[in-house]
Amino acid sequence: MNRIYYLIIFLLISSPFQAQTDLLIPYPHSIEIGEGQFRIKDGFSFKIIGSVKSERVNQALVNFGKRVAWYTTRRIDWLDMEDEGAGLTVSFNQTIQLSDHIDESYMLEVNHAGMNLTANTDIGILRGLETLIQSIGQDETGFFIPEMKIQDHARFAWRGLLVDVCRHFMPLDVLKRILDGMAHCKMNVFHWHLSEDQGFRVESKLFPKLHTLGSDGMYYTQDQVRDIVQYANLKGIRVVPEFDMPGHTTAWMVGHPELASAPGPYKIERYFGVFDPTMDPTKKSTYKFLEKWIKEMAELFPDAYFHIGGDENNGKQWDDNPSIQAFMKRNKLQDNHALQNFFNQKLHAILKKNGKQMMGWDEILQPGLDTSVVIHSWRGKEYMYLAAQKGYRSVLSNGYYIDLSYPAAHHYLNDPLPSDNPLSIEEQKRILGGEATMWSELVSPENIESRIWPRVAAIAERLWSPAHHRDTDNLYLRLQKLDKWLELSGSHHVRNRDYMIRRLSGEINPNILSSFLDWVEPLEGYKRHGSTPRYSSKTPLSRPVDAALLDAPASIKWRAMRAEFKQKEDWLVEYKKDLQIVLQLAPIWSREFSTSSALNQLLPLIEHLNDAAMIGMMMIESIEKNKQNMQQLAGWKQMLTSTKRATDELEIILPDLLLEMYVRSME
Ligand code: ACM
Repeated sequence: MNRIYYLIIFLLISSPFQAQTDLLIPYPHSIEIGEGQFRIKDGFSFKIIGSVKSERVNQALVNFGKRVAWYTTRRIDWLDMEDEGAGLTVSFNQTIQLSDHIDESYMLEVNHAGMNLTANTDIGILRGLETLIQSIGQDETGFFIPEMKIQDHARFAWRGLLVDVCRHFMPLDVLKRILDGMAHCKMNVFHWHLSEDQGFRVESKLFPKLHTLGSDGMYYTQDQVRDIVQYANLKGIRVVPEFDMPGHTTAWMVGHPELASAPGPYKIERYFGVFDPTMDPTKKSTYKFLEKWIKEMAELFPDAYFHIGGDENNGKQWDDNPSIQAFMKRNKLQDNHALQNFFNQKLHAILKKNGKQMMGWDEILQPGLDTSVVIHSWRGKEYMYLAAQKGYRSVLSNGYYIDLSYPAAHHYLNDPLPSDNPLSIEEQKRILGGEATMWSELVSPENIESRIWPRVAAIAERLWSPAHHRDTDNLYLRLQKLDKWLELSGSHHVRNRDYMIRRLSGEINPNILSSFLDWVEPLEGYKRHGSTPRYSSKTPLSRPVDAALLDAPASIKWRAMRAEFKQKEDWLVEYKKDLQIVLQLAPIWSREFSTSSALNQLLPLIEHLNDAAMIGMMMIESIEKNKQNMQQLAGWKQMLTSTKRATDELEIILPDLLLEMYVRSME
């Protein structure tokens, strides 16, 4: 391997210096920066002022101290109440129970002598500590936090992440690390998607056949559930369980075929999509079962909300069952929507009896549904608005489907309440917030974290920060820097991916594959689901497409570079440098990948990337001569189209990046 290679790898990943506080994410509501600094030295200390006790704050401070010590390599001390002159003092008025209307605000004041973090609640302290850690800067003599005053609070009360542990089971340590990252990004709802066609993931002591026969042994014991709930609670995160009903229920039927609308036997589903098994809403025994089981689950999950799914019921088993058809006639239920609505109302009554508020996907919005039910919009924002207009509270996930490999900016710009929203002030109050959804058909315990981070931080900011933050170039600048804080908080998204790349590389230098993956992304939308052979839960998710990031490093870098676009005289230099790097690496990629059976299918992509880079050099030449026009743009677009052919479910990103660069040069 020659030296030029290492130099170009370095150039590819390095980027310009930026003040640490400009890079905060989620960005605070108000921030004033002073001239001075608080320097972090050996013996940096912190203490809690006041008599209110909070296990959350105690643990958060220990965790904060550990992170500061690791990052700065300075020794951290705890002080007793009586000791003078702490580096950081923390004070708050009350310890609270988590709910969907808590005060998470905080105030942070830093001057050269010390730092004060104050909040009304202990949760506010947790949020403030995450801002503080991201504010640590470094210069040639050491580490510091700039003099500043921050006042901050949440824009939306519900800032969630759904994790699907059914299509692929996620072990406890993975979930805890995801919770660490959520806490770092000030997210506060862990939506735990726990039952599906592919698995029933929670131990039931009353109906053990649910988890023993419905999970291949991959389920959470009740003690493990309590452990996760407690872990999340200490980080200020609520746990909302989802048990999808009446569809998406094949795994229930394996042990309990009597719940279904057609005779069994049933097997755990190995493929992905929408399947026929559906609960029978016409039998009293179904509700007897659910009464007992919901009571058991309601005790296990302390949050006020209980998500019943309710999506994608294809109704086939209902259509084919004469006794269900007769029931519908007898009860004047006109269609399957009406029958599902009948079922939902029964579920609502059971949940209410158990002190729970029902939540479900937007299909459940049907006439007569109690307005205490929360509608979770996934098919379109219009359902969320409709729900709010009809008096329902609502949470947005449409536009936050992070499994679909859209750029982070796509999610970032998706505001639950944009300025042109159709709702009245009263209706707007019913929009609780949003949730990113990590569906796991194509996600393993190994790569789930790199699918989530750093991109979910874009959604976290949308839901926490003032609505006017919409600069996507600046977003990428900040996402680029967030990895180190997420890692410091516990996330394995970088190290797991490094291992995937090393494993895939076999005999070749992993930097070679890594530098190639900088330029490719998995296909967007649902295209990967259409590939052959069809994906199943048995497909190993260990190919290059599984290691490729959903926002490729080069796409984050190029979009971040646009933050300074044209402010610099020589703004094209960096782009040209990257294209030259691609052109220099292409023969190395080709030579090395052709020796590897795991990688040789990538060869056509290298050719496309090389072609696109050559076209890019021509585009830059034309920009340098100031010859851009719309006709030329159309020409470049056409030339680049031929380089966009996907291989092995991967696509090169350079054509899109080049066109974005060209368009920007015309502005
Ligand atoms: C869903 O994505 N079916 C809620």
